[in-house]
Amino acid sequence: MKEFIDLKIGIIGGGQLGRMIVQEAKKMGLYVVILDPTLGSPAGQIADEQIIADLNNEEKIKELVIKCDITTFEIEHINTDILKKLEESGENISPPSRVLEIIKDKSKQKKFLNEYNIPTSKWKKFNEDEPINETFSFPVVQKACRGGYDGRGVYVIKNEEDVKNRLRAESFLEEYIDFDKELAIIVARSKNGEIKSYPLVEMIFDEEENICDMIIAPARVDEKIYKEASEIAKDCVEELKGVGVFGVEMFLTKDNRILVNEIAPRVHNSGHYSIEGCVTSQFEQHIRCIMGLPLGSTELLAPTVVINLLGDKMHRGTPKYIGVHESLEILGVNLHIYGKKETRPYRKMGHATIVDGKIENAIEKAYIVKKTLKVLSKEADYGK
Ligand SMILES: Nc1ncnc2c1ncn2[C@@H]1O[C@H](COP(=O)(O)OP(=O)(O)O)[C@@H](O)[C@H]1O
Ligand SMILES: [Mg+2]
Repeated sequence: MKEFIDLKIGIIGGGQLGRMIVQEAKKMGLYVVILDPTLGSPAGQIADEQIIADLNNEEKIKELVIKCDITTFEIEHINTDILKKLEESGENISPPSRVLEIIKDKSKQKKFLNEYNIPTSKWKKFNEDEPINETFSFPVVQKACRGGYDGRGVYVIKNEEDVKNRLRAESFLEEYIDFDKELAIIVARSKNGEIKSYPLVEMIFDEEENICDMIIAPARVDEKIYKEASEIAKDCVEELKGVGVFGVEMFLTKDNRILVNEIAPRVHNSGHYSIEGCVTSQFEQHIRCIMGLPLGSTELLAPTVVINLLGDKMHRGTPKYIGVHESLEILGVNLHIYGKKETRPYRKMGHATIVDGKIENAIEKAYIVKKTLKVLSKEADYGK
């Protein structure tokens, strides 16, 4: 058997999530190969090797998986048939394609959760022949079964007029939840079945773009809710028998019910706070899970807030970061820049983490950073 240090890790997808996995893998002295179509992708820049190929290029995925001892992914939109074939020939892919298959189709995922009595919003597969407001009254949420992310593939139908603009893809309808808060938890499950949950966090969304722009750890909810949400998230990953780190997104309804919104079969934006905020970051934990190593402590060291650094809505082109000096002057602020060569409106370009002994202070500092730190482009503004 190979020594720990000789094991090669392959990652399908070279975005910021892959990059942060690479950072932890390199910390542990491991060799990492990335597969991504973009030359110099965020993860490829710092990995040992990058295979330049489309995320569904069968031949190149095979090359990656064979070259590496363990292959994982940072994105769920991968052809599972390719992965399944490789698993059947004895290759090691974590999480396994079986789990990815359930999760990457949101309707299959919901069905799975319901089978295991995990609470979700009410939903129903959408049939073009049926009137939309027959099962649910307006507003109702339409979700594409596959391919959505950062709010793309989610459409709130508020009235008959909106029906015209519905998504034209295989989809389902879901009851609109007028939630009190959106919550999330990272749950790690290792190859050996050891399971550990991270603290419960709040996700705050940009109202215009429906994209998460702030994470608050720990969530400001009462103890009973905190415990219940943690239990439910753990159940999801336990029932899935997943291997790796999973992000479980939940709604806290106004009448104090917890509903699971969706599960991500990978490291998750809501867990970035764990790099500075916890004893073991979600990225290191993911490596421990897939390598069958003992899991690290998920303890929160201090209240931590993360601000997603999104591309300015008026700028596109070579990124220019404004307000770095002023932001870093604030005690407790750490900056992460993902190394993307191009900024676009609302593109995730980096994040800032704010650690403070008092949660109110961390939030206050986060709002200052949010106002100060901007991603513009070196080229002219749209408006000029
Ligand atoms: N049933 C719902 N009721 C109200 N808001 C919802 C509902 N489903 C999703 N949303 C909102 O849309 C966001 C994105 O939906 P989600 O299913 O998480 O898709 P994505 O894959 O884009 O993250 C959620 O975080 C939430 O703010
Ligand atoms: Mg989501």
